[in-house]
Amino acid sequence: MTRHSFPQGFLWGAATSSQQIEGGRFEGGRGESIWDRFATIPGKIEDGSNSDLACDHYHRWPEDIEIMKSLGLGAYRFSIAWPRIFPGGSGKPNEAGLDFYESLVDALLEAGIRPFPTLYPWDLPQVLQDRGGWAERDTAERFKDYAAVMARRLGDRIAQWTTHNEPWCAATLGYEEGHHAPGHKDPSEALCAAHHLLLSHGWACQAIGIEASRAELGIVHIHTPAYPESTSQADEDAARWFDGFFNRWYFDPVLRGVYPEDAIADRVAAGHLEGPELPFLKDGDLEAISTPLDFLGVNYYSRVIMKTDEDGRRVAVKPGPPESLTDMDWEVYPEGLYDTLRRVHKDYAPKKIYITENGAAYDDPMDAEGRIADPRRIAYLRDHFLSMGRAIEDGVPLKGYFAWSLLDNFEWGYGFKKRFGLYAVDESSRQRIPKDSAAWYRDVVSANAVSDEPTPTSHGDSRAVEL
Ligand code: FCB
Repeated sequence: MTRHSFPQGFLWGAATSSQQIEGGRFEGGRGESIWDRFATIPGKIEDGSNSDLACDHYHRWPEDIEIMKSLGLGAYRFSIAWPRIFPGGSGKPNEAGLDFYESLVDALLEAGIRPFPTLYPWDLPQVLQDRGGWAERDTAERFKDYAAVMARRLGDRIAQWTTHNEPWCAATLGYEEGHHAPGHKDPSEALCAAHHLLLSHGWACQAIGIEASRAELGIVHIHTPAYPESTSQADEDAARWFDGFFNRWYFDPVLRGVYPEDAIADRVAAGHLEGPELPFLKDGDLEAISTPLDFLGVNYYSRVIMKTDEDGRRVAVKPGPPESLTDMDWEVYPEGLYDTLRRVHKDYAPKKIYITENGAAYDDPMDAEGRIADPRRIAYLRDHFLSMGRAIEDGVPLKGYFAWSLLDNFEWGYGFKKRFGLYAVDESSRQRIPKDSAAWYRDVVSANAVSDEPTPTSHGDSRAVEL
């Protein structure tokens, strides 16, 4: 048995996001978000649901803080719903929205849990989308104002801010592939949206810096390592292409102040750009985007294997076998987290790294005694923790980890059927029900250590974390 202890002070947390858990859609003066609108379009949400009520965290947040306390968490990564603060997109901020987050933050601090907020987890005010959304440079201006308002209100209590969550998803899934709000399918528009997302990150950092000069600033990028199916040049090129499109397009501007040239050439070849000049790039943008960061948040779920097919197309190899996949059809590949951490450290050298999301969707039933045994989630977490341990031993400055997610929640276009939570949420009563993984995680947090034993022994007592 290998037991890996984490450094003293390693921050263990859990993550959620506003649109996915809050509900309270029509309360406290909240405005419409692009996801509220998207969910009204038939066929966009797989199970036909919306997030008007979600986990009802808007009312149940004190109970959720109690759950976090029972897990012994040191930090909570949540997000702020922009439409709660600026229901009309600009103008005067909504006091009720500010009060909501202020109460949450104060209660977290009272509970000894570090609030770790993210300003943008994809819930753009619909009014800003009506004016062009992220394809418009003005949206970045509005984001800067929103960041300044939040820092002014909470800056004395928040030690670490993150601006965006996974701009790749917001731009590509939202504007290029159409799976996410606002549901556009325009690759050129998506590149423009990506740029304005990144630009708004830089401007927001500057704005927060003015309001709260001691705060640490970061952004959250998803990183999916790409491996070639074979050592052929064509497969190597397919992996390079994916890495450029998915990872480097976002990491390079923020951490190096440049867009990757090979990925620009790929976009020109695909007809998404007319030439290597980026039409949306203005003087000073890259300087703003690469405002020095205090930490980088990295979300890791899985890897991709790439090949070039007979028709010369770069495609992902279908992952398998089925038992290696989660309910998202994402391959369980803990080694990829190790590779991710090593790569981010080597290529980008951020001062500190946090794993801001990592977790697995499995739908495990409740037994007659009310217990939800989720051994596959426990195995997933354990193996990823062991990868983190190895990376730390290798000198990667990994400072903390946030499990995705505290609760089963609204998984975007999939609705409520993909369950990532350490806790289930009863569909009618909204009661939080701990899964075995919750007690297992609590034990890891309290020991600040993980062991590679195949069947964790101490999680039988799942009642212990029930309220
Ligand atoms: C990430 C998102 C998060 C959740 C997980 C499963 O891409 O940031 O909100 O949907 O995937």
